Amino acid sequence: MTHPGRRRPRVRPLERVDARPVALLFRDISHEFGTEPASSIEATEALFATPWLGGGAGLVMVDREELVGIGWVRDMEWNGQLYVDFGLHLRQSHRSADIHPLLTDPLLDLAQDQGQRCGTDQAIVCYRSIDTGHPPLVRELGFRDLPTTMIGFRHSLDRMPPVKPPKSIVFRPSRLPDELETLIALGEKAFDDRMNMGEPMSVDYWKLAMKTDWFSPGQVVVAEQKGEPVGYAFTWVGAREAKETGLHEVAVLPKWRGKGIGSALTVEALKWSQDRGSEAVLTGAFSTNRSIAQYWRLGFRPDATRTYYFFTRPLE
Ligand SMILES: CC(C)(COP(=O)(O)OP(=O)(O)OC[C@H]1O[C@@H](n2cnc3c(N)ncnc32)[C@H](O)[C@@H]1OP(=O)(O)O)[C@@H](O)C(=O)NCCC(=O)NCCS
Repeated sequence: MTHPGRRRPRVRPLERVDARPVALLFRDISHEFGTEPASSIEATEALFATPWLGGGAGLVMVDREELVGIGWVRDMEWNGQLYVDFGLHLRQSHRSADIHPLLTDPLLDLAQDQGQRCGTDQAIVCYRSIDTGHPPLVRELGFRDLPTTMIGFRHSLDRMPPVKPPKSIVFRPSRLPDELETLIALGEKAFDDRMNMGEPMSVDYWKLAMKTDWFSPGQVVVAEQKGEPVGYAFTWVGAREAKETGLHEVAVLPKWRGKGIGSALTVEALKWSQDRGSEAVLTGAFSTNRSIAQYWRLGFRPDATRTYYFFTRPLE
């Protein structure tokens, strides 16, 4: 119930200056569920310095000068299909049915417009598997649970897997930014079953990583055969002092698979993280991706804080 005399929260467009309050909101919501945010405060701020919304739009809810909620809509390819990516994060105090519509009603209208513009009639939203606050809210909005999940994994780096790199393959640090186009083209070819594997990283994501002032070309290890790149492993570093790094993508060209290149690339990436002082490496894969067996074999173990559930809703 809204209380008489209590000022209603305001909803306004998301602005660049909201970066830090949004990062702090993500942190507080993560603490509510007993964990740390998936991205550091610096990484969220860095994201806001990029055109991460593309042609989409964002809204924030502000209550007595405090940012209490964020919502956004933007285009997204997900497992071979185009969706409106629907983001919604509210402080616990503002998730009730008498308050959230101030944000969720205009956000659903924006999603409708965005869907018409980009040519899809489906919206998608995801939450960490440990988040028990938002899924009930989005189900109330008409979202339905999808069976495919993103399974999170953690490698504690205490034991390097005994993997023999295949002969004739050279593993070297990337030559980024010079070979950006080559690696992006390689990723496009490697993800040849998007329904089950998901999408390769977007150009914007590569650029975001390279823009951080702690970026090192060695974060991306390249596997080469006679001078030709045939695979890579990409490690994401969210902040200069980050204790955990993310193995965000391993890709091997289809005709080079099954020879141990992907495993050796993963081990190279683990070693790179260990050398920079990381305490653990995090990764994730769709529940339909065969690479899960490979992560397990290499010593990664499931991590519920990095596991995501997805929900879709028609935009009628
Ligand atoms: C995952 C991937 C990097 C593995 O590369 P690889 O060089 O074939 O790996 P290895 O030879 O070291 O190991 C083979 C193992 O990889 C796993 N694997 C995952 N996807 C696979 C695929 N499409 N084809 C073959 N093996 C695959 C399997 O566990 C396989 O072992 P198995 O045959 O006993 O099931 C490669 O298949 C790929 O580029 N897939 C598309 C991109 C992707 O899904 N990346 C992972 C998530 S970011």
